Amino acid sequence: MRRSIVLGCGAYLPEKIVSNEELAKKVDTSDEWISRRTGIKRRHVAGPHETTSVLAIAAARAALENAKLDAQQIDLIVVATATPDNTFPATATKVQAELGITHGFAFDVQAVCSGFVYALTVADNFIRLGQVQKALVIGAETFSRILDWNDRGTCVLFGDGAGAVVLGASEGQGDKSDRGILSTHLHSDGSHYNLLYANGGPGSTGTTGVVKMEGQEVFRHAVGRLSEVVDEALAANKITPKEIDWLVPHQANSRIIEATAKKLNLPSNKVVMTIHDHANTSAASIPLALATATKDGRIKQGQLVLLDAMGGGFTWGAAVIRW
Ligand code: ACO
Repeated sequence: MRRSIVLGCGAYLPEKIVSNEELAKKVDTSDEWISRRTGIKRRHVAGPHETTSVLAIAAARAALENAKLDAQQIDLIVVATATPDNTFPATATKVQAELGITHGFAFDVQAVCSGFVYALTVADNFIRLGQVQKALVIGAETFSRILDWNDRGTCVLFGDGAGAVVLGASEGQGDKSDRGILSTHLHSDGSHYNLLYANGGPGSTGTTGVVKMEGQEVFRHAVGRLSEVVDEALAANKITPKEIDWLVPHQANSRIIEATAKKLNLPSNKVVMTIHDHANTSAASIPLALATATKDGRIKQGQLVLLDAMGGGFTWGAAVIRW
C-alpha cells in the first residue's frame, strides 16, 4: 500500500516579535488577560517586505534542507493560506518559481486555520494515487495584514509565520505500523460563516477586509468539532488514545487544546504547544509546531502523531501519521 511519509520539516518566523506587554501599550488589554484566556505571550509580525510567499519560501527551503532533498525532486507544491500575496496567481506558484522548479504543479488551498490539514490531505491523495512522488506542503500566513488593530477581541490572538513538510511516496503493509500518513479526515459546514470571517477580501468584494469573530461561539464549536474528528480519526485506525505519542493541534487557544487533550486523557507532556511564542498563525501553526518538535527531538521516527485543526467556514479536520 502506497503511503506518504514525512521526509523533513522546516519553519520560518519573521524577526519582529511583539509581546503582550507591547500590545497593551496600543490597545486596551493586558498580558494577564491574554495569557489567561489564550496562553499567548508573544507573536511574530512580518516586516513590510515579508509577504506570505517570502515566509513560505524560507520555510520550504528549510524543509528541503532537513529532508536532504534538492528542489528539483519536488513535483507538487501546495500552499495553505488565507492571506495569499495576490488574488492570483497562487502563492504556491511563486514558491515554485523561487525554488527554480518548472515541472510538476503548484496551487493554493484555502481552509483558514484548517488549511494545513486540508493541504496535507490533498498532497497525500495525489501521492497515494501515484500521480506525485514528492510534495512540499506549506502553511504560510500574514494575518497581521488582515487584523483590525483597534479590535482587542481579535488583534491579540494572531501572529505571522510559515511551516513546511516534505512528503515522499513509500510502500507499506497497509496497517497502523506503517510509516506515513495513515488517514486524514476533513469536514466543513458553511452555515457558520458569520461566526468567523474576513469582511472583504481578494476578488469579488474589491476590499481587503479584517477578521471578524464571535469568540465564545467559535470556542464552543471548536471544542465540539475537534472532539468528534479526533474520535473519527482514532476509530478509522483502530487506535486507542493511549497509543498516541504526540498530539500536534492547531494552535488557536491553549484552553481549546487542553480540552481536546483532556478528552483523550493525554498528559500535557504529550501535547506540542507553541501558542505562547507564535500565537495563532492559522494554516502555519501545525507545520510550525511540527518543525519545532522534530528539531528539538521530541517527535521521533516510528511514533504516532495526531494532528487536528478547526477554522473559519467552519472547516475542521484531523490526520494520523506514523512518523
Ligand atoms: N483584553 C482585555 N479584555 C478583552 C480583550 C482583550 N484582548 N478581548 C476582549 N476583552 C473583554 C471583552 O470586551 C469582555 O468585556 P466585558 O465583559 O466588559 O464585555 C470580556 O473581555 C470577555 O470577553 P469574551 O469575548 O466573553 O471573552 P472570552 O472569555 O470568550 O475570551 C477569546 C475571548 C479568547 C477570544 C475566546 O472566546 C476564544 O479563545 N475563542 C476562540 C476563538 C479563537 O481561537 N479564534 C481563532 C480563530 S478560530 C480557530 O483557530 C479555532
